[in-house]
Amino acid sequence: MEPKPWLKKLKPYPPGKTLEEIQRDLGLKGPIYKLNSNENPLGPSPKVIEALKKALSEIHLYPEASYKTLREALGKRWGLSSENIILGNGSNEILEFVFKAYLEREDEIIISEPSFLMYEIFGEIYGVKIKKIPLGTDFKHHLEGFLNSITHKTKALFLDHPHNPTGSTLEREVWEEFFKFLPKNILVIIDEAYGDFIDDPKVPLGIEFLKKGYPVLITRTFSKAMGLAGLRLGYGIASPEIIDTLNKVRQPFNVNLLAVKAGLAILEDKDYQLKSIELVLKGRKYLTSELSKLGFKVYPSQANFLMVDFDKFCDLIYNYLLNQGIFLRPLKAYGFPNCLRITVGTEEANQKLIQEIENFLNTEIS
Ligand SMILES: Cc1ncc(COP(=O)(O)O)c(C=O)c1O
Repeated sequence: MEPKPWLKKLKPYPPGKTLEEIQRDLGLKGPIYKLNSNENPLGPSPKVIEALKKALSEIHLYPEASYKTLREALGKRWGLSSENIILGNGSNEILEFVFKAYLEREDEIIISEPSFLMYEIFGEIYGVKIKKIPLGTDFKHHLEGFLNSITHKTKALFLDHPHNPTGSTLEREVWEEFFKFLPKNILVIIDEAYGDFIDDPKVPLGIEFLKKGYPVLITRTFSKAMGLAGLRLGYGIASPEIIDTLNKVRQPFNVNLLAVKAGLAILEDKDYQLKSIELVLKGRKYLTSELSKLGFKVYPSQANFLMVDFDKFCDLIYNYLLNQGIFLRPLKAYGFPNCLRITVGTEEANQKLIQEIENFLNTEIS
């Protein structure tokens, strides 16, 4: 059987390596600092582990089919109801629901270039036309460019906010101006995978626009601030009409029982949430300041990572750090050949990173 012709040139998502892969591939013995996939450096919440231990004796049973308990807890968190919430196997699955439920082959979506790679990959899988708008000033989404590119075929706009891989965000006035001119039949997907790390009061969350009645779907994840990347849990927030439509393409039991139990436990563990967000905010400030002092361009980020321009040292620093057990994400695939993306780590990991970059520069200069 032949695959669909448009899948022939599709390249799957290039994921960051796991700890075991890094250890095996590099033969490293010492500690490894995994700063390549924007995961939570704290490890899982002890309360989640406790909840999971209890839930293990129930894994022969299907989870609650409606997921009402977790959807209600999430609805409450956002001042909405369970009817505004849909759960996904990671927030990636919510993104895919949009393609399954709304987008046909002749339809068009608009995304930034670069942005989170899955928008383009889903577009290719579902044979949808993709328009790419280059990032604007300071590597921010160029919303005017989005508006100018809308045609009668445009159905949805995908905006990662904070943006991956730069960490950039847009201020409230820019969003407001955009929504003023946006045709009402176009769905705006605001991907807030890193929304928990926004601390600039001028930067709004998508929920503000949903509550004003704009046509938005917000996607959120438990993979980052909540420390549950391995369990795959995300959700979408939108009007009940949109949620109903997305539900039609959702498989029964798309989220597994352990993920549901862990989700409920972490939502109650406010201490863990606070601790992981504070760790990122503090570490982001520290790394920005130290790397700038060393002469590198650090792009302002509202996420749990930083994009740093290491100029001519980029490949050398990447390989040097790799040999010290510090693993970063190269950004050539995103069109930034001199930049690396650094996940904010524990205080110890952040200090080790700076120390090793200083060591590299000392050997390079001497
Ligand atoms: C911008 C963005 N959106 C969505 C995701 C998907 O997250 P998950 O499927 O783990 O919820 C990621 C993952 O890193 C991301 O960077």
